Parts: sequence; C-alpha cells; structure tokens
Amino acid sequence: MASTRPSLAEDVVLRTTPIIDGLPPAGKGCVFTVTNPATTQTIATIPLLGAEAAERAVASNAAALQEWRKRAAAERADILLAWHGLILQNREDLARLLTSEQGKPLNEARGEIDYAASFVRWFAEEARRVYGEIIPAARERRVMVIKQPVGVVGAITPWNFPAAMITRKVAPALAAGCTVTLKPAELTPLSAFALAHLALDAGVPPGVFNVIAGDAPAIGSVLTSDPTVAKFTFTGSTAVGKLLTAQCATTLKRVSMELGGNAPLIVFDDADIDTAVEGAIASKFRNTGQTCVCANRILVQSGIHDRFAEALAARVAAFRVGNGLEGETDQGPLITAAALQKVRDHVGDAVGRGARIVTGGERHEAGELFHQPTVLIGANPDMRLAQEETFGPVAPLFRFANEGEALALANSTRSGLAAYAFTRDMDRFWRLAEGLEVGMVGFNNGIISSETVPFGGVKESGLGREGSRHGIDEFLELKAISLGLPPQPGIE
Ligand code: SIN
Repeated sequence: MASTRPSLAEDVVLRTTPIIDGLPPAGKGCVFTVTNPATTQTIATIPLLGAEAAERAVASNAAALQEWRKRAAAERADILLAWHGLILQNREDLARLLTSEQGKPLNEARGEIDYAASFVRWFAEEARRVYGEIIPAARERRVMVIKQPVGVVGAITPWNFPAAMITRKVAPALAAGCTVTLKPAELTPLSAFALAHLALDAGVPPGVFNVIAGDAPAIGSVLTSDPTVAKFTFTGSTAVGKLLTAQCATTLKRVSMELGGNAPLIVFDDADIDTAVEGAIASKFRNTGQTCVCANRILVQSGIHDRFAEALAARVAAFRVGNGLEGETDQGPLITAAALQKVRDHVGDAVGRGARIVTGGERHEAGELFHQPTVLIGANPDMRLAQEETFGPVAPLFRFANEGEALALANSTRSGLAAYAFTRDMDRFWRLAEGLEVGMVGFNNGIISSETVPFGGVKESGLGREGSRHGIDEFLELKAISLGLPPQPGIE
C-alpha cells in the first residue's frame, strides 16, 4: 500500500538522491553536477558513486532477492500498482523535473510520465500471468515447466527518456520477482532517483530496487562482471552495447540490448499526404529528434515528393523552439554540445554533397544547445546522415522511383530497429511488413511505442524485447521438472 509520506513536491530535493538498500549512500566527497540543457545552468549536485557502491548495491539486491522472489505474485502486483498510483499522483512534479534535466517540452515530459506509468501498470497485471506448462512427454513421465525469476538484474538506461526507459526494465523485473541495481545516465539521473523514492513509498522493500550513478565505467564494469548479477539490460548506443555485451560474456549473463536505429520512413505516391506529413513530424521531431526510433531517412516517391517536401517544410518552419518550462514549445535543446556539433556536422556534410536546405539548417537563437528544425532535400546514401543516427531535428528527404528501390534503400544498413511506411495499397502493405528488416513497423502512423508493443530490434539494433507480454520473459528462467509416473495397471 502507498504510504502517507510526503509527495514529491514537498521535498523534491531530498528525493533526488541515489538509493542503496532503501537509504541515500554517503559517497566519498566527490560529486558530479546535472545541468539543464535549455539554460546550461547547474540544477543539482550529486554524490559521485563508483565500483564500491555498485558492489554494495548488488550485494543488497542479492540479500533482498531471497524474500522478494518468494512473495505471492499478487502481492508484488499490488505494490507495483501502488507505485503506478504514486507516479501519476506526482505527474506534474516528475514532468517538470524531467524537462529540467532533459530539455524536452513540458507537454512531451507529461506524456513520458504517462508512458513510464503505463509499463508499471502493465507489468503489475502481467505478474499474475506467469504461467508454466505440463508436457505429456511419455507414458511413464510428465514434464512440467515452471518460470522463475532470473535473479539479480543490472540495468543501464539512457538520457533521452529518463523515466520511461527505467520503468520499461524495472517494472517487469520486479513483477517477475527479480531485484535490480539501475545506473541511469549521469546527464539525467534525477528522474530515476525520484522514481526509486516513490517505489519505496509504494512498498518496494529496501534492497529490491537500488539506483546509483557517477563513475559510469566503474559501475558498468561491476554490473557486467559481478557473478551475483544474473541478467544485464541496457538501452543506448550500438557501440556501447557491443562493449557491455562482451563484458557480460565473461560470466555468461543473460543480456537484453535496446540499441541504435537508422529508421527509414517511406512515403509512396498513393499515401494520404496529410497523414504522411503528420506521421513524419511525430516520428522525426519527437524529443527534438533524439529517440532511437526517430525517422532518420525519409524516402519519398517522385510523384509526391515536391508536394510532401513543401507541406513538411511549412509545418516544421512553424515550430515553437525554446525552454520547455517557459510557455508552449514544440522543440527543445540538444542534450550536449557534442550532440549539437554532430547535427551541425551532418547538415554540413549533406550540403557539401549536394543536399539543399528547405528550412532551418543553422543553430537556433533560443540558447547554446538549440538547433533550428531542419528539412533537407536531395539526400543520398553517401551522406553521413544516411549512415549514422543524426539524433537531432533534421529531416533529410531521399527521392525514389519505385517500391523495389525504396525497400533496398531502407534495408541497406546494419541497423534494424524501426521503419515506417505511408501507403493505401494493401498488397504493398504486406510486402513491406514482411520485407523490412526491422523489429517494428509503423504503417500510416509515426508513433509505434506503447506498453503493449514488443519493443526491440534485429541486426545490430539489439537483442530481446521490452514491453508487451513478452517483456517479462526477459526476466524469467524456464525450469523443466521431469516427473516419473507409477506403473498403470493394464498398460505395459
Ligand atoms: C528510445 O529512444 O530508446 C526509446 C523510444 C521509445 O520508447 O519510443
């Protein structure tokens, strides 16, 4: 049951500290700072934790696991439902905290808190549906299969969704009966700390959910090599995901990797143009282009290309860019100076190779880390923005002639997370649904993410799925129990 402790608003600063075993750890005097990317002002100073804290956190997970895994599923479900209630009760504070550390417009941050809460509710419901099976193996034997929690989980989450990427991992882990040590991104740890405090208030026992941050390589090394950790789950770049997977190999941990994408968004001549423009905006410009499922390459068929480019550019030019906490905004800052520089480099490289800017193309006057929402035409596969994730507010348009060319272009990358297509032809729908080499396809819509979707990729975009009924399986082991039957009279 939810306790009567104060809500986040009443002691917001106290409730943005790391937690090990239910308490804020002391640290050794070193600190790191958290900055608001819209203003570049420091908003918090946090104790810098490292390997020793990570080892303590994992040990406390191991101790707490003994009791947590034995609780009735219904009890774990009730605690998760109480956590869900507290997240929604504190929605406005959590959204403001999220915008302050991450920069996304306040309305998007509110949407992310709802998205984060949806995973907690979904997996509270799934906790009670962890069914096993009985297999009639032979006349004298039955095989029973039961599902058990994997054990202690190490998790590392990114800065682009400081709340939702946490609950998408932690809620199924807790529902399954696992315990978790989480390291959120050092750029955006405050939402993670606040969520962990609310989890404690909801009745999650000390040691079941620890959150630490600071020396990322040192903490990462413990979470990927300590033999106590049975399962490791990561969301972030493909390069870092490969490194962490290799580290996990030494103790053969189970791993889930939700890594980078290079999503194609394909607009065919027969598409409804308004739907395609809205879908492209929803996909490309969500979180100022900083999501792994953002459309990175917009492929447009020749017959609709010019009308689509004009309509998209008109909508993009009208975006309100600014500090998400001040008035209505559609686009926020990039997360860091390096992120802004990458966007500038991609635009520069594309223009150098023949692309033309239809709108935007420069830094934005709203602040040091802002870039103008940009539409480019004349993009081609040799450009950097075709080969790497731009992770910023740049929509490059590639012109194509026919479906075969579009499919080949869409699949011509080592990434395979998401793809989008806009068409009214049902035969084409099936050809693309089956032919696109990705884990998720959006047809005639630009937002595919929800708690109901098995989120994840193929190729170098990752391993495993998060969300949906499949998400809890990542935190469960199958155990086969073979039962010998007594001889049955009259049967040889
Ligand atoms: C991500 O960018 O890592 C996740 C995006 C989503 O959940 O939609």
